Formats: sequence, structure tokens, C-alpha cells
Amino acid sequence: MTPFDTEITDRLLSTTRSVRRRLDFDRAVDPEILQECLGLASYAPNASNAQDWRWVIVTDPESRAAIADHYRAGIVPPMEELLERRQADGDAAGVRHSEAVLYLAERFHEVPALVIPCIQGQLDPDLELAWTTSLFGSILPAVWSFQLALHSRGLASTFTTAHLLAADEVAALLDIPDDYLQTCLIPVAYLLGDDLKPPARRDLDEIIAWNRWA
Ligand SMILES: Cc1cc2nc3c(=O)[nH]c(=O)nc-3n(C[C@H](O)[C@H](O)[C@H](O)COP(=O)(O)O)c2cc1C
Repeated sequence: MTPFDTEITDRLLSTTRSVRRRLDFDRAVDPEILQECLGLASYAPNASNAQDWRWVIVTDPESRAAIADHYRAGIVPPMEELLERRQADGDAAGVRHSEAVLYLAERFHEVPALVIPCIQGQLDPDLELAWTTSLFGSILPAVWSFQLALHSRGLASTFTTAHLLAADEVAALLDIPDDYLQTCLIPVAYLLGDDLKPPARRDLDEIIAWNRWA
């Protein structure tokens, strides 16, 4: 007997997907649910338990529109190029991915809540790998917990990074102080339709090495 119903927890872990086409753009996200999910996210590991994370939740339509413009500028040109290559290669799964990414980009301003997880710290090319990893490692596990908690409550999200190409402009827009790094942006909406299916992934044999790299 395990302390959890693993049928349910495994389903949550294997079906928490990037959702782009099945977002309910017409339903505002309940602020209490966002708080509850961020409360659960705050149990995630973080270096020295400093908890130097901050979460900026953007629901105001004007700010969402401005962020969406930056997001599109970052993702549309490279994704259109990738789509063309994928079409030429006959890569059907790749084409579906690119088209879904472009669909979300087009409607980004309509996503009811944009959540920007930030961590206190600075990126420095001279910083040791250990400290750079500590910086991102002190927020990204919490981001994933947040996404899991959202999914378990019937909401959907996608881990995105494209707006970071205009991180300075978005920081200015939202008054994010200089000593905080934006690490990603999670668009959040209610999930439309039935639950999600596990995605295709590489075989474990291909990705796991026992005792020595192989
Ligand atoms: C570091 C990182 C950056 C990503 N950036 C974006 C992004 O800017 N826009 C987007 O639509 N998806 C983005 N994704 C989502 C990936 O495309 C997605 O996780 C991947 O295709 C696997 O699909 P799945 O999450 O549904 O299993 C990003 C994911 C990661 C981990």
C-alpha cells in the first residue's frame, strides 16, 4: 500500500501537457485558484530555502496585450521558419507542434492570466555553473508544481520563454526590479474538453545510463 493513489498521481504527471489549442479564452481564471496553486508551488525545493521567488500575475488586458506583442515578436519569425522546414521534411508531429505554437501566439493577448515566475539574482557569464543552476533551480521546480496543481484543478498552461527576448521591456512595463530575473511565462486558462493524453517521448533505453555514460 503506497500513501498515494498512484493511478491518479501518475495520470497527472504524464498528462500535464503544453496546452495551446484548448484554452478557454472567455472565462476569467479565479484568483483564489491561482493563489492556491502558487501556495502548493511554494513547497518546491529551492536553494538554501531562501524562497527568493516572486510571481507576477498579469490579468489587466492592456498589459496582456503589450506582453503578447513582445511574445509574438520573439516566437513567430523563428517558428514560421521551423514550420517551413518541418513541412519540407514531412515531419507531421513537428508541423502540428509549430502550428499549435503559432496559434497560441496569435491569441496570446486573450489568455486570461499570464504568470511570470521571477527569482532574485543576476545572470553573469563568469558565474560558476553551480550558481547559475541554483538560480534557475530555485524556481523551475516550483513552476512545474504550479502547472501540475493547475491541471489537477481543470486548468491548463504552457511553459513559455519567448517573451524573455524582450525581458527588459516587460520588466519596465510591470515594474519588476533590476535584481529579479524573469525565468519564463506561464499562460493560464481553464482547459476545454476532456483530459489530456500522455505525449510521445523517447524510449527510456535511449536516455538512461546505468553507472557509466552509454
Ligand atoms: C525551456 C522551454 C521553453 C519553452 N518555450 C515555449 C514557448 O516559448 N512557447 C510555447 O508555445 N511552448 C514553449 N515550450 C513548450 C514546449 O514546446 C513543450 O514542452 C514541448 O513541445 C513538449 O510538449 P508537451 O509539454 O505537451 O509534452 C517550452 C518548453 C520549455 C521546457
